[in-house]
Amino acid sequence: MIDLTILLNEKSEEPLYTQLYQYIKKEILSGKLTAQTRLPSIRALSSHLHVSRNTVDLAYQQLIAEGYVLSRARSGLYVIDLELETLPSSHSNNMTRLENRVQDQPAIQYDFRYGDVDAEHFPFSTWRKLSNQSLQQNQRMLFSYGDPLGEHGFRSEIAKYVHSSRGVNSSPDQIIIGSGIQYLLGILTGLLGATDNGIAMEEPGYDGVRTIFKHNGFPIHPIPLDEDGLNIHKLYESKSRIVYITPSHQFPYGMVMPLAKRMQLLKWAADQNGIIIEDDYDSEFRYVGKPIPSLQGMDTRQRTVYLGTFSKCLLPSLRTAYMVLPPDLLERYNKQDFRLYDQTVSQIQQKTLELFMSNGHWEAHIRKMRKVYRQKQFTLISTIQKLMGTQATIVGQDAGLHILLRVHNGMDEVELIQTAEEEGVKIYPVSPFWAQRAQAERSMVQIGFGGLSNTDIIEGVQSLYHAWFKKR
Ligand SMILES: Cc1ncc(COP(=O)(O)O)c(C=O)c1O
Repeated sequence: MIDLTILLNEKSEEPLYTQLYQYIKKEILSGKLTAQTRLPSIRALSSHLHVSRNTVDLAYQQLIAEGYVLSRARSGLYVIDLELETLPSSHSNNMTRLENRVQDQPAIQYDFRYGDVDAEHFPFSTWRKLSNQSLQQNQRMLFSYGDPLGEHGFRSEIAKYVHSSRGVNSSPDQIIIGSGIQYLLGILTGLLGATDNGIAMEEPGYDGVRTIFKHNGFPIHPIPLDEDGLNIHKLYESKSRIVYITPSHQFPYGMVMPLAKRMQLLKWAADQNGIIIEDDYDSEFRYVGKPIPSLQGMDTRQRTVYLGTFSKCLLPSLRTAYMVLPPDLLERYNKQDFRLYDQTVSQIQQKTLELFMSNGHWEAHIRKMRKVYRQKQFTLISTIQKLMGTQATIVGQDAGLHILLRVHNGMDEVELIQTAEEEGVKIYPVSPFWAQRAQAERSMVQIGFGGLSNTDIIEGVQSLYHAWFKKR
């Protein structure tokens, strides 16, 4: 049961019960009082508002008569579900408004949101068991903040993992845990200190981090992409000494930077005394070719900051990521009081993840998910190719949990999204990834496939085909 706090005007010509009735009706129509909410009893509300029981009773009777609330025997009054029930004809105006609201929001059946991950294969029972275990074994941790960098055992597991899978060279002392890559980049920008030379970023690039840099006072230098990633010549020209980059799966275009270009980028860092911020957010899911080691692992001069996350391979809701600092930045971190930043990821979760990794579940999970996503991606691509043929071009299919689609039917991004929505499919714009939006590709959309089943992917693409090619 809820409380209703209303200012009733005793001096108004309008009776108190009408004021009360109007107020509750408005709350119901605006959705603030939701379906199935139980209204306070007459006695409770009259005493809360200091009005007579008769006033509340009259207001409630009016609401019942007009069908806004239902009386359930021996239980009380409940708000009805306006979207299911039909109100009396005297309220047709309100109903029309509601109907319009419902019609304005077509039911989305297939949501190709990038960022959603597979829910079917998450090892819930193992996770529950390890969570319990971590609590039982480490009860003392419940009563403390923990290590500001993150728990040492967890950082050791991460150091082992990134070395074996990505060739990253680090000791646990260089690793900082935090609640997401964005959060860690906030720390890193504080550590680097804003410079007039700003930060160079791939154009297009991840808007989620561009915002962090901007908010921290770094001018952005958008650097165009070649077929094989960042244009190094333009990077030199930008005069920036810091570059943020997604070399193993360029976001959003998806190209993988080849070895030769990685060497050029490392040479740039050496020449400029520059810093490379390497975001390796989803390198576990590479479907074509051999894995290329991280830039950090190839960097003999230690100019690279490496970032990884558990959002793609495990769960975005864990909000757990890690950053590997090179020695000079680590020294700065320790000297400049950054250790005063308390750790943002709960110790219970860090312990659970540590157990998950040390007991071999992590490797097994990645192997399993690679197969699951490979299959989903194959389903997506083959269905698009089968239905749309040369009328659509797939971009970035070597890795990751999303693709871009260039659609050749004359529609622009907005039309592509709107017509898809009318068919119950949600797909996403790519223009926000451009710092210079006017240069964005006109007829391109982003399609994430991690969170959908194979059947939903097929049906979703069929609906897209219908929206874009059949209805015209
Ligand atoms: C390029 C890139 N970096 C980082 C992230 C997010 O990582 P986290 O969830 O750890 O903040 C994303 C998420 O979509 C991403 O696309």
